[in-house]
Amino acid sequence: MKQWSLNFRLWHWINAIVITGLLGTVFLRKTFLNYRTNSEIIMDKLSDINITIAKDQAVSIARAIRSPMWDWHIWLGYALAALVVWRIVLFFTDSGKQNFQNCSQKTTHDKIVSSLYVIFYALMFAMAATGLVLHFHEFLNVGKDLGESIKEIHELLYNGILYFVIIHIAGVILAENKDEKGIISSMVGK
Ligand code: HEM
Ligand code: HEM
Repeated sequence: MKQWSLNFRLWHWINAIVITGLLGTVFLRKTFLNYRTNSEIIMDKLSDINITIAKDQAVSIARAIRSPMWDWHIWLGYALAALVVWRIVLFFTDSGKQNFQNCSQKTTHDKIVSSLYVIFYALMFAMAATGLVLHFHEFLNVGKDLGESIKEIHELLYNGILYFVIIHIAGVILAENKDEKGIISSMVGK
């Protein structure tokens, strides 16, 4: 079974928490705190008590309700950018490179797993870069059209992160129950 340094295990689990948190903020933005749905609710409920407000006023209230939650996306986003740097540093350690060495001697399955990790790291880097550009668009003088395109890329790549997490967790659970007993505990303790 592979051995993972404490440094790498810490990185893995902090990264898992941060990514889950980021996905959680996206989930809330698209469901319970969706400004379109909530602005309709605000207008409906106010009209029940004979108060009429314009659509854009309701949208602005709904956005204000969502805002403190979305601040978490930005804070976790900074954490993700720091995790990208931490992972680059880890590439210079034994734990950090073991999945990407002696590739010619690997089985097809292991080659696919390692490729998935490489794709995930590229996605993680792209999410951090596009996310930071979106957040600092005024400071960076990013025009409206370019900003929109970057947001589309950021949103498209989000799907890749989501699929990776699902496939990865299903994959390690399957491996644990088939021919790689102890794989999960190797990432937990020494
Ligand atoms: C958001 C959630 C998660 C993310 C983003 C994530 C990400 C990753 C990445 C990128 C690697 C590759 C490490 C390397 O560079 O060699 C990895 C390995 C690993 N992860 Fe996760 N992980 C997550 C959740 C989990 C969970 C819930 C488990 C346990 C049930 C788990 C168990 C493992 C194990 C055992 C390995 C080593 C697998 C191997 O040797 O190929 N991960 N994870
Ligand atoms: C795994 C990492 C990330 C995922 C999965 C993710 C996902 C998303 C998604 C799906 C959206 C579009 C939300 C919508 O309009 O419905 C979004 C928007 C955004 N994200 Fe991320 N993101 C990640 C990382 C980051 C990072 C690192 C930052 C930078 C701090 C960031 C900053 C932003 C900003 C500023 C927006 C635009 C919000 C707006 O238009 O009001 N994201 N993100």
